[in-house]
Amino acid sequence: MRKIIKNGTIVTATDTFKAEILIENEKIKAVGTDLPSEGAEVIDANGCYVFPGGIDPHTHLEMPFGGTVTKDDFETGTIAAAFGGTTTIIDFCLTDKGKPLKDAIKTWHAKSKDKAVIDYSFHLMISEINENVLKEIPKVIEEDGITSFKVFMAYKNVFQADDETLFHTLVTAKEHGALVMVHAENGDVIDYLCKKALEEGKTDPIYHALTRPPEVEGEATGRACMLTGLANARLYVVHVSCAQAVGKIIEARNNGIQVYGETCPQYLLLDQSALEKPDFEGAKYVWSPPLREKWHQDVLWNALKNGQLQTLGSDQCSFDFKGQKDLGKGDFTKIPNGGPFIEDRVSVLFSEGVKKGRITLNQFVDIVSTKNAKLFGLFPQKGTIAAGSDADLVIFDPNARRTISAKTHHMAVDYNAFEGMEITGEPISVLSRGEFVIRDKKLVAEPGRGRYLKRAKFSQEIEAPKQVVTK
Ligand code: URP
Ligand code: ZN
Ligand code: ZN
Repeated sequence: MRKIIKNGTIVTATDTFKAEILIENEKIKAVGTDLPSEGAEVIDANGCYVFPGGIDPHTHLEMPFGGTVTKDDFETGTIAAAFGGTTTIIDFCLTDKGKPLKDAIKTWHAKSKDKAVIDYSFHLMISEINENVLKEIPKVIEEDGITSFKVFMAYKNVFQADDETLFHTLVTAKEHGALVMVHAENGDVIDYLCKKALEEGKTDPIYHALTRPPEVEGEATGRACMLTGLANARLYVVHVSCAQAVGKIIEARNNGIQVYGETCPQYLLLDQSALEKPDFEGAKYVWSPPLREKWHQDVLWNALKNGQLQTLGSDQCSFDFKGQKDLGKGDFTKIPNGGPFIEDRVSVLFSEGVKKGRITLNQFVDIVSTKNAKLFGLFPQKGTIAAGSDADLVIFDPNARRTISAKTHHMAVDYNAFEGMEITGEPISVLSRGEFVIRDKKLVAEPGRGRYLKRAKFSQEIEAPKQVVTK
C-alpha cells in the first residue's frame, strides 16, 4: 500500500511547487524530493498538476423534493463527483418536524450505505426548535460529528423555518461549536409573487426567476447576517447568486460579523435567459435562487477573487428533464428545483476561473477544496497536500480540452446544464485515501468504499474573516 507520485506540480491553497508525494496506508507520508520509494508503485504525473481532492460542501443526493426524488443517488452522484475531481462531499440530511433528528441521520446513513465511492459527511436541517431538538443538537455534534446545521428561509410550507427558529439555531450552534448555513431567500414574499403570477396566467419557467427577484435574496441574506451579528454566531450562506446578496455579506464582514459565502458554477456561467428556452427547455435551468441577469456574474467572480465569497458548492440536485422537470408543465411552481453540477464543479472553475485569469491557481484550490475543509471541520485531514493528511489527490491535466455533454457525463440525469461548453483542464486520475477511484479517466473503485466522516467543531483558529473593522 505504498505509492509515490512523481514529476507532478503540487498545488495547494498557498503554494505551487515540483515535488514527489509518498503515500502509505491511506495517508500522505511525505512531500519532498528524492523520497524513499522502495516497493512503492510509481505514478507519473508529468505535465500535470496535483491538487488536493475537491470538497463539495453542498449536495442533495437521493433527496425527496418537489414531489419527486433527485435522480443521482450516493452511487451515481459520488462516481460523477470523483470523475470531476471531488473526493469528499457533504450532503444535506433533511429532518421531519416532530421527529427525532437522529431518525433523519439514520435515514441518510441508509441511503448512503454501500454506495459511495468517495468519503462523505452530512449537514443537518433544522426546521423547528423545541426541547427535544435542543437536547439532540449537542448529541448530534458529539456523537455523529455533524457540526453544521442548515436553515431554509424559503420554500414556504415545505422546508421554510421562521426567524425565531433561525435565531435560536444560531445561538445554540454557537454555544456548541457548530456553523449555521442558510438558504437565504424571503419565502413569504416569493409565495405572494408566485400566487400573483399564476393568477395572471404566467405559467412558463421564466416566471420562476421573475417571482424570485434578487431583492428577496438580498433581503434574506441581510436579515440572516444581522441576526448572526446579534447572536454573536457565525453563518455560511449557501448558493449566493446575486449582487444584492454579495453586498450584504461584504457589509456584514466589514462590520466584523462572521459570515461566509458560497456560490455555485451555474451562477458564475449561466444567466436568466436560459429559462426562456423554447419547448419547456427552460425548466432544465430552474433552481433556487434562480439564474440572474448576466451582469451579476462579474460581481460573483470579483467576490471570489477578493475573498468576499470563499467557496464553490455544486448544489447538486438533479432531476431528469423527461419525467421529473415536466411535472411543472403549465405551472412553473411545480417544476422540481435543482440542477446537475457535481461533476463539472471543479473543471469549470479551473477553465473559466484560472485559465481566463479571473482567479489564481492557489485561489482555485482554496475555493474548491481547502476552505471547505477548514469551514466544515475536515482540515487538515482533508483539503491539503501535507504529511499526515489523507491521500485524497487529483492528477489534473491543465491543457486537456473537452466539451461538456450529457452524452459523456457520469451523472444519472438526462441533460447537462453546461451542454456544449468547451473547457480546458481535466482530472486524469483521482485517489481517495491512497486508492485510485479514477485511473486514466476510468472508474476503478467499487461502491461502498467511501467512508462517513465525523467532522470537528468550527475552529476559529483556522478560519476567521480577514477583514479588519475600520470604524
Ligand atoms: O433549487 C435548488 N437549489 N434545489 C436544491 C435545494 C436547495 O435549495 O438548495
Ligand atoms: Zn437552497
Ligand atoms: Zn441546495
